Parts: sequence; C-alpha cells; structure tokens
Amino acid sequence: MGWLHWERFLCGTDCTTDPHRCVSERLFVEMADVMVAEGWRDAGYEFVCIDDCWMAPTRDQQGRLQPDPKRFPSGIRKLADYMHSKGLKLGIYSDVGNKTCAGFPGSYDHYDLDAQTFASWGVDLLKFDGCNSGTLELLAEGYRRMSLALNKTGRSIVYSCEWPFYLRPVQQPNYTEIKHYCNHWRNFFDVYDSWSSIKSILDWTALHQDSIVKIAGPGGWNDPDMLVIGNFGLSWDQAVTQMAMWAIMAAPLFMSNDLRHISPEAKWLLQNKDVIAINQDVLGKQGYQVVKDKHFELWERPLSGGAYAVAVLNQQEIGGPQNFTFSLSFLGNGLACNPACSIQQVLPASRDWGVYSWVSSLSVEVNPTGTVLLKVVVL
Ligand code: GLA
Repeated sequence: MGWLHWERFLCGTDCTTDPHRCVSERLFVEMADVMVAEGWRDAGYEFVCIDDCWMAPTRDQQGRLQPDPKRFPSGIRKLADYMHSKGLKLGIYSDVGNKTCAGFPGSYDHYDLDAQTFASWGVDLLKFDGCNSGTLELLAEGYRRMSLALNKTGRSIVYSCEWPFYLRPVQQPNYTEIKHYCNHWRNFFDVYDSWSSIKSILDWTALHQDSIVKIAGPGGWNDPDMLVIGNFGLSWDQAVTQMAMWAIMAAPLFMSNDLRHISPEAKWLLQNKDVIAINQDVLGKQGYQVVKDKHFELWERPLSGGAYAVAVLNQQEIGGPQNFTFSLSFLGNGLACNPACSIQQVLPASRDWGVYSWVSSLSVEVNPTGTVLLKVVVL
C-alpha cells in the first residue's frame, strides 16, 4: 500500500510556473508529511512512489541514472532517508527499454548498474515499465535480468512489473514465470480518472479471471493500477466501487491523488479499516465474479478463517437504486453460510445485517454504478 504520483501528477517538469504540482522532491516530501500527519501511514499506506519523469535527460559520467538536478536538488538518497525517518518507504521508476514511456533514459543494457544505484540510494520499490523494449525476447529478458539484479544487491526491493501488459497483445503471458520474477504486475491499460476506465478494468478482470486469479497470492499479485479516489472523475458510488472491488481483487493499493487537498469522504473511504482488512487479508486469495445477472455482478473473495468478502455491483447507468436478490447458497460453493453465517456490511456504510441460515436469500439495494460490500462469517 502506498501513494504513486503518476495518474494525478503525470509528467509535470515545470517547477517555475507550477511548483506545487511538478514532479520534484518537494511533492514527495509534502505528500510524506501529510501521510504521517493525516493517518495515511497508520492506515497502512507505507510506500511513497516516484513514477516517470524524475530523471535528468542523460546519465552521469559513470553511466549512472541521475535525478533532474533542478527538481531533486538533494538527490534520491536524501529523499529515501527522509522517508525512512518518517516510517515510510520510497519507490522509484525505470523502464526495461532504452527510454521510459515519457522519453527519459531507460535501463536497457544497465540493469545491474541501475539496480545497484537504486539499492545504494535506499530505494524500497521499483516500478519497471515496458516501453521501448524492442522485441518480445528483449522485454522478457530485461524483466528477468532486472529481477536478478535487484536480488543481487541484497536489499529488499519490491519489484513492480508491467510485463504481461506489454506481452499480451502478441503472446499469452506465462504467469507462473512472471510470478517467479515479479511481486506485482499490470495486465491492462493505465487507469484514468473516470468511470469508463474503472469499468473497463473490472470487465477485463472478470473476462480473464480463469487465467489470472489462481496465480495471485503472497509474493505476487495482479495489479489493476492505482486508486484514483479523491480526484475529479468518480462519483461517490463509483469511488465506493473502486475501493470495494480493489479489495475483492487483492490489488496492491497505490493511491494517486493529492493528499494535501482531499475531501473527508474520500479520506474516510481510503482509510476505511474494514475494507483495508479485506484487501490485506492474510490468506492472500484474489476474488472473482460468481454471477453476472443482466447489470448486476456478484463477486466473492475467500478470506482467512472461512469468511468471505462479497460484493454486489450494479452496472446500470440509468435510473435509481435497484434490488438484487440472491441465495446465500451461491457463496463459497455453498459453504460460506453453511449452516449459518453473520453478515456485516462494510460499504457504502457499515451496518450489521444479522444472522442468516444457508437456505436464506439476501436482497441488497445498490445505487447505479455503486457496490455493496459485505463480509460473511460462517457460524
Ligand atoms: C506507462 C505506465 C503508467 C506510467 C506511464 C509513465 O503508461 O503504464 O503507469 O508509469 O507509463 O510514463
């Protein structure tokens, strides 16, 4: 869990006219300060991550990557020290090819050197993009080599990949191999600050669940991309859907928003302990869609202790709240509520639904594009 600059701040490099939003050490220090002061770190958001556009246009005389000197005058080592002094961790970004997606120097031909540089700076996570990699063989080879290079440094560095996303148009990803090398991996397009983007990620995930759900678990996760809650594009119900479904999908939770200016509602949702507990459940199983019935989708995620997280999503974008009624015997292959269970609603608001037997049905009212998230505990 953490914060990543990309979706909200993109590639702002002009600190003269936009000092508060350009990609600079100031942005990360200010975000870290808020993360500590406003309870984000204590809620579990630990990593403060730099995305593309942090680099100077060229490597230094020893061939090492260097930060843009105007925007990162203190250097990355100092920034990492600062994060560590606050109980946070620092993430950085590079690319398997010879240029990043935004055209800055990539790591091609420099995997060992760059891994050593990041480790010497005290970096804790590397997001490794896949632009400009040349051939598919070079893409795969680069992702493997950077993984080995990071391990060789001896420093514990989370390795965030986009390998399957860049591979998929041409080849079925081998997820067993990808999990061997990466800690999480993007499968699909970049998230945007819009409902159509969130919806497309959910639709893609449901369509491919047979190949991607089983591979997820401790050490390696599917990454549906950043949480965009707290920005401009999602209604309240759509924000609830993103939070609920990212918990069901066992997604890495990296927010991309401006924590210095965020509504109390968005903060409540992003810091909600019960949703975070589902997202971070120690069993580490990813959830999946159980039923799709016209515009309603029923998803479940097995949790530790025989419990289940259950989401009811209403995809209808017209009209008002609608009821979805389903038999509790649908859940957990008939076992989630057998012989009985207690049901707690987590989102959109916390509520005790009481005790049910496994022959009962549940009727849930869901707003358009909203989700009701429940926790079902077997008795
Ligand atoms: C790609 C990635 C994004 C972001 C940008 C940066 O599009 O998928 O997440 O890192 O590059 O240029």
